Amino acid sequence: MAETIIIPNEHGPYHVKGDFRLVLSDGTELDVEGGETWLCRCGLSSMKPFCDSTHKKSGFRCDNVEMVERSGA
Ligand code: FES
Repeated sequence: MAETIIIPNEHGPYHVKGDFRLVLSDGTELDVEGGETWLCRCGLSSMKPFCDSTHKKSGFRCDNVEMVERSGA
């Protein structure tokens, strides 16, 4: 069973783990099986959609930490 876990890190990026497809703005699709990545949610990364840790220097704050788990076929 495919499983994707998305963890919004407190005051930081979305940590995505498991099996997922990442579709970039140019249409490129990256299929990842059993991997992980960190996606920017502060909007300041120079490597969007990926986090480059700029959120730490910027003082980005987000207190709505929650865990979302999705299971698929
Ligand atoms: S969340 Fe890390 S650079 Fe945006």
